[in-house]
Amino acid sequence: MEMKEKELRRRMVEICRESFRQGLFTGTSGNLSVYLEAGEMLITPTSLRYDQMEPEDIVRCDLEGKVLAGARQPSSEWRMHAEVYRACPQHKALFHTHSPYATAFAVVHRSIPAVLIEMQLFLGGEIPCAAYATPGTREVGLHAVTCLQEGAGACLLANHGVLAVGEDLEQARLRAEYVEDAARIYHYAAALGEPVTIDRL
Ligand code: 13P
Repeated sequence: MEMKEKELRRRMVEICRESFRQGLFTGTSGNLSVYLEAGEMLITPTSLRYDQMEPEDIVRCDLEGKVLAGARQPSSEWRMHAEVYRACPQHKALFHTHSPYATAFAVVHRSIPAVLIEMQLFLGGEIPCAAYATPGTREVGLHAVTCLQEGAGACLLANHGVLAVGEDLEQARLRAEYVEDAARIYHYAAALGEPVTIDRL
């Protein structure tokens, strides 16, 4: 195995464990991937607890879901990852969580309005909510692409969770963290009064 792949697997697992401790992931939900050249990706395995995941559990597969390396099956959301890589070649890593405050917005099919400068800087402003599709289908990815093609750094997936994109794993992860932070702050602010969006300042 190439050094680069080895290092990516190690970093993916490290980030998974940290994100699990941060509460971005619960149980086995959520998944992340890194795009490699030639239509291949490294992706977390399906249904494995993050605190038990090791670098060799990461799966290398193509965009048709064919496993090329690894003894496990890829995340059940591999089709979503594949559709985003197909449509948005500028994105090289994807981070999918069910982080609770952001997912609450997804459950009521509401975008998170741009209320913080960090949302502008890291996410491109408002975090849109993509239309519902059954988890595991390619439609989840196709609906997300509709939002992402308008320049968003992340979107919500209706009744499901969050999808953050990046030019690398570090950026996708940072965006997933900011999505949850924005959702939590918006939620607190809405309990106090009417949140003011930054375009009105
Ligand atoms: P996997 O364990 O198959 O990655 O699925 C978890 C999930 O988040 C589905 O949306």
